[in-house]
Amino acid sequence: MIGIFDSGVGGLSVYREIRKLLPQEDYVYYADNAHCPYGEKTKEYITGRAREISEILIGKGADIIVVACNTATAAAIADLRKEFSDTDDPDVRARMLELTGGKRDHIKFVGMEPAIKPAIKMTETGVVGVLATAGTLKAEKYRHTRDQSHGNVTVVEHIGQGFVELVENGTVSGPEAEQVVAKSLKPLLDEGADTIVLGCTHYPFLMDVIRKIAGPEVTIIDPAPAVARHLADILEDERKVSANMSGKDSASGTGCSVFMSSGPDDVLKKMVCRL
Ligand code: DGL
Repeated sequence: MIGIFDSGVGGLSVYREIRKLLPQEDYVYYADNAHCPYGEKTKEYITGRAREISEILIGKGADIIVVACNTATAAAIADLRKEFSDTDDPDVRARMLELTGGKRDHIKFVGMEPAIKPAIKMTETGVVGVLATAGTLKAEKYRHTRDQSHGNVTVVEHIGQGFVELVENGTVSGPEAEQVVAKSLKPLLDEGADTIVLGCTHYPFLMDVIRKIAGPEVTIIDPAPAVARHLADILEDERKVSANMSGKDSASGTGCSVFMSSGPDDVLKKMVCRL
């Protein structure tokens, strides 16, 4: 079973891509909407949430976890891997065997990658725009990727101010959404960006609005399909490991999905129905 989590409904944009690729898998999705947004919260706070949610997902049967949130990936994935995936640490192995009822001695995590590298290859103006949360833009992980890859290309950034709130309220079109999106997107277009990276999993739900404001000439990159392909590769290897451990074929699933949330579930239901 594949566990997926986000601060809210944003990770459904990643779930959608994963499910297209792996329809036979079972899924458990956790929306931490009682604690959303993560964007302005501290690294410690987000790591605490990520740790707790991971344990819930493992308890539900997840054998691999997708951190379908750029902010949580940037803040917490290194700690999660240390605590749940490190097979060189006997304490981790023992704790994971206990958590999984003896099924697995580690849990792998797949996180979001800011799609700066493909954007840099695509730009013709030499300017790439990144829209993301404050937490992602200031995180060491993001800055490292950006600084390693930009070369002669200029990377301009803007917080998608109010985007997460719009999506969490289910407002993904109309004049209010257009006004909010324009405020953060226009400065990037004004700087000459012809390629825009969506660095937050909530933002693809605003794709129609973003596209309308950016116009047809601008390329908009949602990293979710690439993350889904990466997960599929890792899953194949992981399945071999568990088949070796248990001595039997570790089958995928029945294509069933379970959705959970830490707060009210009306928008989650609405978005799931829409998908
Ligand atoms: N969906 C998230 C991300 O990808 C988090 C947004 C938030 O809670 O601020 O960054």
